[in-house]
Amino acid sequence: MDPFKQPPPARSGARTNTLLAGLTVGFACLAALLVANLWGRAPARPKIPLVAPSFLETTPWRRSYADMVAAKEDMSDFDCYACHEKGKPPPIRFDANLKIVIPKEHANIETKHGTHDRNNLCYNCHNEANLLTLQVRDGRELKFDNSPPLCGSCHGPTYRDWESGAHGRTSGFWDTKQGGIQRLACVNCHNPHAPQIPTREPAPGPNSLRETFAPPAHAAAKPTQPSH
Ligand code: HEC
Ligand code: HEC
Ligand code: HEC
Ligand code: HEC
Repeated sequence: MDPFKQPPPARSGARTNTLLAGLTVGFACLAALLVANLWGRAPARPKIPLVAPSFLETTPWRRSYADMVAAKEDMSDFDCYACHEKGKPPPIRFDANLKIVIPKEHANIETKHGTHDRNNLCYNCHNEANLLTLQVRDGRELKFDNSPPLCGSCHGPTYRDWESGAHGRTSGFWDTKQGGIQRLACVNCHNPHAPQIPTREPAPGPNSLRETFAPPAHAAAKPTQPSH
């Protein structure tokens, strides 16, 4: 028998037709099964909730003396000699428990610097000889708009970290020609009279696109103030 002998052309056409018909029926069945949802469908992904705007807010929460001067705000709190007499430093008064008594004129000041109020004495920072300046332990006099070195005189390691950009917040440009670097002052974040930063709720965790996780049980608990 000749292995290269072609089948007669009419039979070849009939085979092709049968094959194509078979394939059409096959695919139609697959399509029907797909529409009938035989294998189930991927579950819809949960909606990713928007992050509360408070977590994206970048404005420093405290306005410093320098900010207030730049914005031409009411500076009467800093006009010490409108009320005090030059050359007569106001005496610091204490109650029976040796807690500083804050006069009502300074009622906006909350004194809580350090555990056990270790650094509440006004003249640790203010200059009794000239209330319009701050004084550093080594005798330097500083203007109100240059308070970080005052903080640094007692918080050396933090000050060093701040100077190198590891503590606090640095923004601006690497290229000094475009505007240079801005570094927030200590008092943009810490109230000098009560410097502890209040605890805040953590931002929600990241959203995984592929999986859904139940939040760990403790995530719902409210954060608590650290105790000393
Ligand atoms: C609105 C008026 C007013 C202004 C402005 C003012 N003070 Fe006073 N301050 C007072 C009065 C009143 C007392 C209580 C005086 C007393 O007890 O003899 C006082 C008390 C003080 C005391 C003693 C605090 C205590 O608890 O015993 C210090 C320190 C002081 N002031 C510093 C300042 C400095 C620094 C400034 C400016 C940055 C300033 N004051 C601005 C009215 C003022
Ligand atoms: C740890 C240092 C420190 C101590 C202690 C301190 N101050 Fe101040 N105080 C500052 C600095 C720094 C500023 C300026 C902050 C700024 O730029 O906003 C200031 C601002 C002020 C002002 C003007 C702004 C305002 O908040 O009214 C007054 C008044 C004042 N201090 C009074 C006092 C009195 C009274 C005491 C003691 C009860 C005291 N301070 C203790 C560092 C201190
Ligand atoms: C005269 C020294 C002195 C100066 C100046 C000073 N601090 Fe303090 N600070 C202390 C002491 C002491 C503590 C308490 C440390 C402790 O309790 O372990 C403290 C605690 C703190 C804390 C921890 C929070 C707390 O209340 O326990 C922060 C934050 C802080 N200071 C920030 C500042 C800032 C910002 C300035 C400048 C405006 C400043 N300090 C200036 C002495 C100082
Ligand atoms: C951008 C905001 C920011 C600036 C600017 C900043 N700090 Fe802080 N600082 C923080 C935060 C947030 C913490 C952590 C508070 C906490 O853990 O309770 C902190 C912690 C501290 C602590 C330790 C408090 C503790 O309980 O152990 C000290 C001290 C301190 N800062 C001092 C400074 C000094 C001094 C400067 C300026 C030279 C400064 N900070 C500038 C935000 C700032």
